[in-house]
Amino acid sequence: MARLAGKTAVITGAARGIGQAFAERYVAEGATVAVADIDLERATVTAARIGPQAFAVRLDVSNQASIDAAVQTVAERTGGIDILINNAALFDLAPIVEITRESFDRLFAINVAGTLFTLQAVAKSMIARGKGGKIINMASQAGRRGEALVGVYCATKAAVISLTQSAGLDLIRHGINVNAIAPGVVDGEHWDHVDALFARHENLAPGEKKRSVGAAVPFGRMGTAEDLTGMAVFLATKDADYIVAQTYNVDGGNWMN
Ligand SMILES: NC(=O)c1ccc[n+]([C@@H]2O[C@H](COP(=O)([O-])OP(=O)(O)OC[C@H]3O[C@@H](n4cnc5c(N)ncnc54)[C@H](O)[C@@H]3O)[C@@H](O)[C@H]2O)c1
Repeated sequence: MARLAGKTAVITGAARGIGQAFAERYVAEGATVAVADIDLERATVTAARIGPQAFAVRLDVSNQASIDAAVQTVAERTGGIDILINNAALFDLAPIVEITRESFDRLFAINVAGTLFTLQAVAKSMIARGKGGKIINMASQAGRRGEALVGVYCATKAAVISLTQSAGLDLIRHGINVNAIAPGVVDGEHWDHVDALFARHENLAPGEKKRSVGAAVPFGRMGTAEDLTGMAVFLATKDADYIVAQTYNVDGGNWMN
């Protein structure tokens, strides 16, 4: 069923991982998708593999000129943006007494300022077009509660949940729904990196952290990127028109609120 037929979506950080799965599913649902990533080479390979309804765009969400150029390019090429998934983000890990300003600034620049100013640029373009739209931010269970070694990343994702609420309340009068998805632990290259960081900080064998977090999920395993695609499609459809400023947990039962 093509639930997104005729729609244009921008998905940031879509060269790999969860964003790539969103791009694949959106195209399968009939959308045209801009695979927008700082890694243009990989975004180009990803878009080519998905097919002619996907195309790559270079986007650094921490750079305003890059955001403006990417939004303009996609709007001109497609006739207008209907959906944004604010998915690009970085992770880091350190005990509180070892957090560096460099790590803090980098994560807030990409995860928080990147989310806000990409949302802002796309919202401006949606308002000018006058057809409303759907914006989906990627939060995390890490935004629901702090974690001893994950202070900065958790704070960025709590900020994404808060920005989703404020932007959702402000933009609904333009017919723009802003909501978020909070995944739990999703296997892939991102978690390979997270596992390696935990191995170093907690003196674990490689793969051990992944095994323990997967075993702790009530569903019985880590998530896959594909586990998230149903919610990403639903939030972009008319069926979700009355849903405003919410963050949905899609995490196998890890978190409830
Ligand atoms: N994987 C998980 O367990 C998990 C859990 C909760 C939330 N999330 C969130 O889901 C989203 C996707 O996660 P993932 O696991 O696919 O991550 P990932 O690290 O596999 O992919 C991130 C993508 O973002 C791109 N990127 C990095 N910096 C960028 C920038 N400045 N501008 C544009 N693109 C940039 C990277 O090139 C990469 O393609 C993130 O927001 C992440 O925080 C992931």
